[in-house]
Amino acid sequence: MPKQLYIETVGCQMNVLDSELVVAELLSAGYTLVDAPRKADVILFNTCSVRQHAEDKIYSALGRLKHAKRHRPERIIGVLGCMAQKDQERIFRRAPHVDLVIGPGQLGRLTTLLAEVAAGAGPRIEVSLDRATGSRAAVRESFARYDPLRVVDARAVRHQAMVRIMLGCDRFCTYCIVPRVRGPEQSRPVEEIEAEVRRLADQGCLEVTLLGQTVNSFRGTAAGATVRLADLLGRLHDVEGLRRLRFVTNHPRHMTADLLQAVRDLAKVSPYLHVPAQSGSSAILGRMKRGYTAEQYREMLAEIRATIPEATVTSDFIVGFPGETEEDYRQTVDLVRDARFKNSFIFKYSPRPGTKAAEQYEDDVPEAVKRRRNNELLAVQNAIGGEDNRALVGRTVEILVEGPSKTARKHAEPGGPVQLTGRTVCDRIVVFEGDPSVVGRIVPIEIHKATAVTLFGRTAGHVGSRQSAAAGRE
Ligand code: 5AD
Ligand code: SF4
Repeated sequence: MPKQLYIETVGCQMNVLDSELVVAELLSAGYTLVDAPRKADVILFNTCSVRQHAEDKIYSALGRLKHAKRHRPERIIGVLGCMAQKDQERIFRRAPHVDLVIGPGQLGRLTTLLAEVAAGAGPRIEVSLDRATGSRAAVRESFARYDPLRVVDARAVRHQAMVRIMLGCDRFCTYCIVPRVRGPEQSRPVEEIEAEVRRLADQGCLEVTLLGQTVNSFRGTAAGATVRLADLLGRLHDVEGLRRLRFVTNHPRHMTADLLQAVRDLAKVSPYLHVPAQSGSSAILGRMKRGYTAEQYREMLAEIRATIPEATVTSDFIVGFPGETEEDYRQTVDLVRDARFKNSFIFKYSPRPGTKAAEQYEDDVPEAVKRRRNNELLAVQNAIGGEDNRALVGRTVEILVEGPSKTARKHAEPGGPVQLTGRTVCDRIVVFEGDPSVVGRIVPIEIHKATAVTLFGRTAGHVGSRQSAAAGRE
């Protein structure tokens, strides 16, 4: 009898990738995937610690499973990922019905530990060393790589894939828990990355997104020479079958001229750059220990615009960081206005125990002020997103079709055209009506309507020759 697996994933793309890899491994071990915890023998949560809210949601989901476990004690409940690394044994204390706790640096042990729990060995925990304890080498080793071979069926969209090129982070921004839960920065061997991308392209994957917490500080070696991200892009550009290559997340300090030139010159590299600013106030950036001032961030943006005029840039912001005055916040609004990001992810500051900001600064911006700043900044950003999207109305863009839209998935009717979604090379979401056979293909779409976050279009015969260069790299 194959075992039924349910997995819930929260957090960033690293977590989405880890979950895909976990699912792939368990599928090949004979599990089948189900869409509700009540149908499952094994229930896994791949968790995030970046904000309190993400943790609260997981703890309440765990709480809801208490009775389900009492009903069927042989059912296995596991907590994976960043919260597992952060809270460790405390998870068993808060949710005693949990069987398994595995940090992101120990996912390779999952199959073994699952078997042990199933055999009645009792609760199991496997986490990496705390960064403050043990030698650098020992800590690094305890955050082991987890990049098993890719399985097509484990991906939501088989034509797109993420590939990890780095683990961890060494920057220690004062608000951020990531360096503690994801461990020291480690670049993956270049040959291994190349082999994985080639394998994905052989499986029919058209778009690869390279992942790293600070992806543009990648530093690998090949044949004794240093390979930076710009070099890696050049090498991967040659992979046959691959059509689009992207990378996230960039740190503003590492946005070097050679990288921008690579994005400009390599046709397959998307002119799409996620470079979080976090704040528009140099005083706040200093307390965040981001390593740049607001002026330097603006200079970096100017360099992006000068080198790659068609690039879309996206950002993250934290509002309500300790000590953020109305004037600091205004400077953030000004930056959002001036920078014309395609979109920004905006977060209310959430103190994370174990980080410098949580220990040294009082969380002194009231919740209501954080909320107001969040909403206001989002409105400013959305107005800009809407304007820039509307400028695309009437143009034809190339999109990689991902599948039925959310609406179409809910009201699916057999046969006939369905509402599909896809993305432009600059990561703009496009919704259009079409034949499902175009899923997984790159097709031209003429845009006829736009909102702040979505473009609406119809199938275009072809990308007009005059427009094609611009459309291809819209
Ligand atoms: N509070 C709020 N937002 C945070 N982020 C990281 N740590 C925190 C925190 N403690 C945001 C940053 C980062 C994004 C992934 O999450 O903006 O870029
Ligand atoms: Fe966190 Fe800063 Fe590292 Fe990003 S660069 S993961 S914000 S510590």
